[in-house]
Amino acid sequence: MSVDDLATPCNFVIFGATGNLSANKLIPALYHLEVAGRLPKRMGFTAFARREWDQSQWTEYLKQVLQEKLGDYFDEGVFRSLSSRFNYVRGELHDPQSFAQLGQAIATAKTGPSGCSIYYLAIKPTEYAAVIRNLDQAGLNEPRGQQRIVVEKPFGEDIESALLLNEVLHKHFAEEQIYRIDHYLGKETVQNLLVFRFANTLIEPLWNRNFIDHVQITVAEEIGIEKRADYYDKAGALRDMLQNHLMQLLAVVAMEPPPAWEADALRDEKVKVLRSVRPIPRRAVHAHAFRAQYGPGFSRGVQVGGYQDELGIEKNSVTETFVSAKFYIDNWRWRGVPFYLRTGKRMAKQMSLIALRFKYPPQQLFRETPVEVIAPNWVLLSIQPAESMHMEIHVKKPGLEMDTRVLALNASYRKTHEVPLDAYETLLLDVIEGDRSLFIRFDEVEWAWRVVDPILKYWAQEREFIHTYPAGTWGPEEANRLFDSEDHEWRNEV
Ligand code: BG6
Repeated sequence: MSVDDLATPCNFVIFGATGNLSANKLIPALYHLEVAGRLPKRMGFTAFARREWDQSQWTEYLKQVLQEKLGDYFDEGVFRSLSSRFNYVRGELHDPQSFAQLGQAIATAKTGPSGCSIYYLAIKPTEYAAVIRNLDQAGLNEPRGQQRIVVEKPFGEDIESALLLNEVLHKHFAEEQIYRIDHYLGKETVQNLLVFRFANTLIEPLWNRNFIDHVQITVAEEIGIEKRADYYDKAGALRDMLQNHLMQLLAVVAMEPPPAWEADALRDEKVKVLRSVRPIPRRAVHAHAFRAQYGPGFSRGVQVGGYQDELGIEKNSVTETFVSAKFYIDNWRWRGVPFYLRTGKRMAKQMSLIALRFKYPPQQLFRETPVEVIAPNWVLLSIQPAESMHMEIHVKKPGLEMDTRVLALNASYRKTHEVPLDAYETLLLDVIEGDRSLFIRFDEVEWAWRVVDPILKYWAQEREFIHTYPAGTWGPEEANRLFDSEDHEWRNEV
């Protein structure tokens, strides 16, 4: 369906329009969709935020955000057409009166009063429930079925609050209206992983415990917590990244082929994986999970403070900015294969990588030669900064000796003229077009919480101490204690 075939005009409301997520992801993504001509002609945007601004101050802010993000790519013409779609509404998330004003603004918007609305919650999770209730009470979920609500992660802060939040959502919105977003599912490599696995007969027969020794999933960031102290200090890396993005990646790596390429068929397979993750008993939390916090150090050669020096963070905070964990999936395909996950802020470099190490060949045929031991093969799927896929295999070094070297077969698939997009472009377009395939069903959220909940509960009681690592490094050595075998080590390079 072309976006201009949308039956009714549509209004897209961003709650938290002046916040971090909006500036870093949503606004740039909308700009790219405008450039690509993919925003429906009759779509208007409402920026809802607390700042005492008028329309011109909002427009000025929008320009500043885009100029900063896009640099030379910023185009005045595109900016003008995007900004002319926007309406600024000043309001409080907890105040029903503000929602009445929002209703009026939507009704008088160019997009017309009876169109569909999309509500995007780019706000702190603690404020979701108030907005959901206020939207309904202000009649902004009428007529039922035409409105959509996009809920960002983390969905709740533990299993109990996630269940409660879901209850509130379902009280006011039907499941078909709800888009639980995990933007990692919109990333190219993640989607390509499904193609790599299920469209290549070459790969799938090897993708199991008979051939794979272990799996590593790393999402390392160079940035610190930016200006998100208030949210981050309550969340920490486990809630901010591992429970959602990394667990989704694990599910996509480990899932069985779905019976059909349909949203629910895919989700069913992911849920089966998450349900099969071996529960971590209390006494085993230390053997399965490790946390740490960045101290002062260097990022890209520039001296930076530690987590506790960040504005708004207490000196005794034990919130983790790094987490590594080991999980087992107790099913026929994966039993006994460790899945090592790690993520952190202020790490040595920005790198998101899924790495699968294969087992050693059953016979070390070259023992008496300079080769001695053949190193195992790897499949490396890089999500960012560059999207790429590599398979490392051994070849003979040309020459008189029987010696080998590792050659990486490069299956990278982006052609040089193809512009990389962030995941949000894909996902925002899906919301506009009503496609929920890449969004999360509640049972996925629930089972992911069940996996990490014992770790959360255990850490909540250990409030005295946290390991630290210098900013700009790969995290503390102690994180390696999770490895099952002495020859396991993190892949820090593609
Ligand atoms: C968000 C987290 O979900 O993902 C942030 O809240 C993190 O803390 C971000 O920086 C990373 O996303 P990306 O797409 O830049 O890897």
